[in-house]
Amino acid sequence: MKQHAPACDRNQAFILETLAGILPGKKNLLEIGSGTGQHAAYLAPQFPNLTWFPTDLEENLASINAWCNDSPAANIETASVLNLATGQWPVKSCDAVVCINTIHIISWELVEKLFTGAANVLSKEGVFYVYGPYEYENEPLAESNQNFNAWLQQRDPASGIRKFEKVNELARKNDLIFQFDKSMPANNRSICWKKV
Ligand SMILES: C[S@@+](CC[C@H](N)C(=O)[O-])C[C@H]1O[C@@H](n2cnc3c(N)ncnc32)[C@H](O)[C@@H]1O
Repeated sequence: MKQHAPACDRNQAFILETLAGILPGKKNLLEIGSGTGQHAAYLAPQFPNLTWFPTDLEENLASINAWCNDSPAANIETASVLNLATGQWPVKSCDAVVCINTIHIISWELVEKLFTGAANVLSKEGVFYVYGPYEYENEPLAESNQNFNAWLQQRDPASGIRKFEKVNELARKNDLIFQFDKSMPANNRSICWKKV
């Protein structure tokens, strides 16, 4: 049942370090695109005072639950379906939304639905954290990200590394106020907005 993504092994400690700066005091965290479930299983035990709600497409739920059942954490809910295309979200309210390595996989239309949905469920002062590769105006993409982007677009022309400025504008339109954009290993970024 347990799927394994080597990238999670590489990035989870760095993501933990960043989340440690924004999650204290938060109570309910919704994860979008939980994938294998490795991040939920690794990260949730580090924040025992919040409840972690993993989600993904139906086909990934078995792996997420297998990882989370083997985790020492008592604060992870059974994984729920959240398909951004449907607009149906399994929680009505939360104070943190996390979305790791997913924005470049989904179409721009679904990125828009992601931001609208996150803004809709987040309570005031709630945080929206994303991790992944981004492109910046007037800055060439690193060679590794150029290759990754070409691979993504060959696989699915609707996917691809997003422009930070466009994503940040989408956040602003949804009343999500920019907090930080931090460089991470392997040309990735940690970006955070706060709901006002
Ligand atoms: C590259 S994986 C990242 C998974 C995990 N967050 C990680 O870092 O390993 C992208 C994830 O997006 C999910 N995804 C794709 N389309 C989606 C959709 N329409 N709604 C929600 N999640 C979707 C995939 O199922 C997959 O788990």
